[in-house]
Amino acid sequence: MTDETLLLEMKGINKFFPGVHAVQNVDFELREGEIHALVGENGAGKSTLMKVLAGVHLPESGEIWIHGAQINVDSPATALNAGIAMVQQELKLANALTVAENIFLGHYPKNRYGLVDWKILEQNAVGALANLNITMDVKRLVSNLSVAEMQLVEIAKALIKDAKIIIMDEPSAVLTPHELNQLYKTLREQRARGVSIIYISHRLEEIFELADRVTIMKDGSKVIDLDVASTNKFEIVKLMVGRELGKNYPSRTNKVGEPVLELRNVTSKPRVQNVSFTLHRGEILGLAGLIGAGRSDLANVIFGVDPLEGGEILIRGETVKTASPQDAMRKGLGYVTEDRRRTGLFGIMTVRENITITNLKKCTRAGFLNLKREYEIVKDLIKRLRIVTPTSDQIVQNLSGGNQQRVLLSKWINTDSEIFIIDEPTRGIDVGSKEEFYFLMNDLVANGAAILMISSELPEILGMSDRILVMNHGYLTGEFDISEATEVKIMECAALEMKK
Ligand SMILES: Nc1ncnc2c1ncn2[C@@H]1O[C@H](COP(=O)(O)OP(=O)(O)OP(=O)(O)O)[C@@H](O)[C@H]1O
Ligand SMILES: [Mg+2]
Repeated sequence: MTDETLLLEMKGINKFFPGVHAVQNVDFELREGEIHALVGENGAGKSTLMKVLAGVHLPESGEIWIHGAQINVDSPATALNAGIAMVQQELKLANALTVAENIFLGHYPKNRYGLVDWKILEQNAVGALANLNITMDVKRLVSNLSVAEMQLVEIAKALIKDAKIIIMDEPSAVLTPHELNQLYKTLREQRARGVSIIYISHRLEEIFELADRVTIMKDGSKVIDLDVASTNKFEIVKLMVGRELGKNYPSRTNKVGEPVLELRNVTSKPRVQNVSFTLHRGEILGLAGLIGAGRSDLANVIFGVDPLEGGEILIRGETVKTASPQDAMRKGLGYVTEDRRRTGLFGIMTVRENITITNLKKCTRAGFLNLKREYEIVKDLIKRLRIVTPTSDQIVQNLSGGNQQRVLLSKWINTDSEIFIIDEPTRGIDVGSKEEFYFLMNDLVANGAAILMISSELPEILGMSDRILVMNHGYLTGEFDISEATEVKIMECAALEMKK
């Protein structure tokens, strides 16, 4: 391409991991001042390609050129010097530090005695966030932030380094619609300043809202790059998945049975207030609401992670006395959390260990761990959930984001739970596989399980639920049978101004 706006060329990139040819001879081009979407199924190699660009991974072969000159990227620091910053999919913030410390990590402002000037540090951090239209207490510890807030801190961190290329790996998986609009605005502003953005996403609508061009990857290779204006959603899906998508949601013929979980005026201040509802066997109960409405907090109370301050929880008609996760699990509750890195998976343990850890009993015979049985169980789940991994002994943090999500779900399926709380079930799952997740959930309820499904995606709520609850500022503000629910009605309850 003899295009003077050409900023970056990656040529013939190959990256291998043990048992995986993750990136196969990929050429990638980026123009100055464009937003370039990068899409493909889970495990297609998107994050790996970008980590090569950001100096996180050294490729086995390939070249990187900027403005027609080859550069050597062999560490995140050299990438940054070349103006390349990446906001990673699995967040890498230092938990024990404050927001301000994280943003300026490695280059704290010093006073004339050579000591860190904390006041200036905080002022600069406030300023950096203000540029992104974010107000946040910069003295808060990162460990106390929500996933969304962490993502915003990461973005601020990339932008203050004056990067020319900013790589965003699935930001929309963790941001609220409001925060996302904020982010779009920031990215468009940066584009107008000539910054180029590479934007990985599984939400195809975003591509059409935001991007100028799109590159599609499949099985480690690049399929094609296209001008967004000259393509459409169907074409992209077809190139990405290799087939057309079927019907999105399975039809349900399950019978709704007796109550299995009942909440009576459950309170845990400030984010769970007086919540009452009943979940039945064979039912999927959707829990809608804006992020921060208290849905995950409610899940934490039910699972015994957070204290029950008032009200009553009944499991199969029996009042829960001493609430703890152990107790909840013993009573057949499974909890697929939204934050797989912090509360879902043990990153440095293997796929097999993660799947069986919550139910070792199953693989034990006469008190001894039966390894053969363990491998069989895991092999079966890997097949059922189509987890892409070279072996079941792979370390979980080496899997692609979407495949980690599959491991998390298999872990709970393996406990033979009867009552599932699933928080954002398809976050990070590619469009082709979402369908499989829906069929899987459908199978679970058809076999007598009950699911409380928290989701921020209204089509998913409407497509999967038998009944729908809406939460807003800790209160239940709506309940609908699926036959009467609409997006508008749900949003009205979710966004309603609450009396203080
Ligand atoms: N550090 C690693 N060690 C070993 N294998 C890895 C490592 N990182 C990625 N892989 C493997 O490389 C392949 C590509 O993974 P990658 O994370 O790039 O996919 P992705 O396109 O970003 O998928 P997703 O949409 O699920 O995030 C996968 O098979 C993954 O398991
Ligand atoms: Mg990825």
